[in-house]
Amino acid sequence: MKKILVLNGPNLNLLGLREPELYGKETYEDLKRFLVETASRLGCEVECRQTNHEGVLVDWIQQSRGVFDAIILNAAAYTHTSVAILDAIKAVKARVIEVHLTEPKEREDFRRVSYVGMVAEKTFSGKKFQSYSEAMEYSVNHG
Ligand code: DQA
Repeated sequence: MKKILVLNGPNLNLLGLREPELYGKETYEDLKRFLVETASRLGCEVECRQTNHEGVLVDWIQQSRGVFDAIILNAAAYTHTSVAILDAIKAVKARVIEVHLTEPKEREDFRRVSYVGMVAEKTFSGKKFQSYSEAMEYSVNHG
C-alpha cells in the first residue's frame, strides 16, 4: 500500500474563515476528512500535516525520505518564495505533487512564480478539494 504525506503550509489551518469567496467555506478539518476518505477509496495510506512555518516544512520534507512514497504539497504562500523548500525537495529527491485550491497563475502577478512547481512531478490546481483528490489519484497510479 502506498504511503502518501500531505503537507499544507501557512494559513490553510484557517480554511472556511479565510477569504471563503476564493478558498471555499469548508474548513481544514473538512479537508482532512476528505483526504482520509479519498485515501480509503484509492487504497493508500495518508498522513496530513499543516504548519505555518517554512522550516517545519523543510524538516518534514527531509524526514519523508524512505518513509513516504510521495508528498502532496500545498506550500501556500511559500510556493512563491521558498528556495529552502525547493532545495529540500531536491536534496532528498522527494517525489512531490504540487496542489493548490485556487489557480495561482490566474491571480496576482507575484503568484505566477512557483519554486515548488520547478521540482514537482505534476501540479493540480484550481479545483478546491478536488485538486488534492486528483493529486492523490495521480500519486497512487504513477511512479
Ligand atoms: C494557495 C495559493 C497561494 O498563492 C496562496 O498563498 C495560498 C493558497 C492555494 O491553495 O490556492 O495560501 O496555495
